[in-house]
Amino acid sequence: MSGNGLFPLTEEHEMIRQAAREFAQNEIAPIAAEYDESGEFPMDTIKKMGEMGFMGIEVPEEYGGAGMDTLAYVLALEEICKADASHGTIMSVNNSLFCYGLLRFGTEEQKQKYLRAVASGKAIGAYSLTEPMSGSDAGTMRSRAVREGDVYRINGRKSWVTSGPVADYIVLFTMTDPEKKHKGITAFLIDTRQPGFSVGKKEPKLGIRASATSEIVFEDYCAPVECRLGEEGEGFKIAMTVLDAGRIGIAAQALGIAEAAYEASLEYSKEREAFGQKIGSFEGIAFKLADMKTRIEASRLLIYQAAMAKERAKKTGERFTLEASMAKLFASETAMFVTHQAVQIHGGMGYSKELPVERYFRDAKITEIYEGTSEIQRLVISRLETGLR
Ligand code: CAA
Repeated sequence: MSGNGLFPLTEEHEMIRQAAREFAQNEIAPIAAEYDESGEFPMDTIKKMGEMGFMGIEVPEEYGGAGMDTLAYVLALEEICKADASHGTIMSVNNSLFCYGLLRFGTEEQKQKYLRAVASGKAIGAYSLTEPMSGSDAGTMRSRAVREGDVYRINGRKSWVTSGPVADYIVLFTMTDPEKKHKGITAFLIDTRQPGFSVGKKEPKLGIRASATSEIVFEDYCAPVECRLGEEGEGFKIAMTVLDAGRIGIAAQALGIAEAAYEASLEYSKEREAFGQKIGSFEGIAFKLADMKTRIEASRLLIYQAAMAKERAKKTGERFTLEASMAKLFASETAMFVTHQAVQIHGGMGYSKELPVERYFRDAKITEIYEGTSEIQRLVISRLETGLR
């Protein structure tokens, strides 16, 4: 056992953390700037991550995964994101938004058919809830699935799909009964090689540029009934349950980015001199470092707490919404705070593409937006606490 006492880590946890750290620093860190610049999807390293077991960490081995727990997942994700948040985004969506949803709500046949390939990294999984006019208000959507005998005919346009241009399989949320509002949403497993599916506009992004994000378009796509995930009308609850898991992943991503920015700042403060002293000896810099470190460690506690809550939920079925939202809210705002300070501590060099600090700053911003903005996390937390709406 190791760890900080509150969250004892097993030998298995240390092993996956070490394996992820070595892989991230040896294979990802050296290429991160180049892929950020080109915006190219890093397929080779993602495939290698699949071989290492990082693409389906919590998926039982019988379905092609690594068969580990949520703490193992966040430890590995944090290390990958310390090297590059784009790789981390792809890993996070694959693990928590695709594999977790399928594991929790899929039939045995669906798990055999889709999970094995995605959890082992042989295929890439994605999740599609958002539409051009339906973001935070996720219960409203215009895309439709109409049942015709044993198939559902799907039409519509979805947006902001992480891994959209490269995904093999996508968990799609669409409306089967608009009269029932959120209770009329149904989830489907989409095979992107089938007719009626196409990739729409690709998003040119500020950060996580090597992760591919796009619209996806359905034009008379026919999904057989066996591809429905859960029952008709259960889609919204599935989407929200899966997002609770996803938010822990984004929190771990934010932690990794913040740690990378903090470590760079710490080193720089001990080396760089101004007015005849190391800049770290100036209170203006030293107090920034103190605040950065403190918020990082507080984020870590919230994230590990959320991971343990999710682990308990696997046995009890209870929700871990509060823990997940608090972890995502605090860790993402910490990543923004820390990377902002890191740029400032580095001065002109923080603004230069010669160092990764400006990339950390750009990458951090998305963690306050996707899988529920900070405003949505505050709404979720306060509603759960007050019981009011
Ligand atoms: N788990 C299980 N069920 C949940 C739930 C959860 N976390 N949250 C809500 N529900 C259930 C409620 O219990 C309720 O059930 P009943 O109908 O049986 O009463 C139902 O869902 C509706 O709940 P609300 O009335 O609270 O719904 P709402 O319309 O007020 O919305 C919301 C709540 C929190 C604002 C929600 O819409 C939300 O989280 N919005 C943000 C969406 C989001 O994160 N989008 C990002 C998409 S993913 C992405 O970024 C792209 C990518 O590729 C990574």
